[in-house]
Amino acid sequence: MPTVRQLVFVMLALLTSLKTPAVYSQTGLINITIDDSSADPLTGVKIVYGVENQAGHGDWVSVVDQNCTGCLAQPDAAQAFDHSWHDSSYSIEKGFFPFAWVTFTGSAVYVMGIVIASMERTSTSLNNTRLTFEIDGEDQGTYLHIASIGPETVFSYNTLVFAKDDLPYGFHNITILVGNSTPARDSLCLLDRIIYTRR
Ligand SMILES: *[C@@H]1O[C@H](CO)[C@@H](O)[C@H](O)[C@H]1NC(C)=O
Ligand SMILES: *[C@@H]1O[C@H](CO)[C@@H](O)[C@H](O)[C@H]1NC(C)=O
Repeated sequence: MPTVRQLVFVMLALLTSLKTPAVYSQTGLINITIDDSSADPLTGVKIVYGVENQAGHGDWVSVVDQNCTGCLAQPDAAQAFDHSWHDSSYSIEKGFFPFAWVTFTGSAVYVMGIVIASMERTSTSLNNTRLTFEIDGEDQGTYLHIASIGPETVFSYNTLVFAKDDLPYGFHNITILVGNSTPARDSLCLLDRIIYTRR
């Protein structure tokens, strides 16, 4: 008869042998989240905000715990990652594109935002989210979301607005442009976080 100690040892060995391959063989990859207003926990890199052809932050507003009373969009901070997002908009009158840019080392990148699922009117910049993406300076297409008409403003949190998971493993940069050149229509961006996949 095996002793209790021997049985425990065998069970531990079994558990370890089951667990180890699961961790390594499945992916061996981890996701790192860069919050819109905090540094990359691994590298310390922060998202850079600006406006094309202009110095400074331009129209980007850093919203933490709903501290932007003047912002048109008022999502619930409790439902946003780390209670924060960056708010920016593009309009034909403004004519320039706000951008967010960050570097990472990995093989995939995902952008999460907050969009407006429905609202009463369709005539404000709130109801369009048009974002154009570039990786390493190369065009990756556009995300377009138009809110439906409803009795009240409903936000959709944790919305995946961009995903690219087949990058060659290495150092990359991603640019998020608010608005797109054609057709030039209003756009709202509520950027919540950027996730990338690394070894
Ligand atoms: C990373 O996050 C994305 C988006 O949520 C998900 O699709 C992907 O499976 C995750 N990858 C890993 C390695 O966890
Ligand atoms: C909200 O709070 C954050 C963190 O203190 C600050 O950086 C940001 O400028 C504030 N935003 C507004 C609109 O006051």
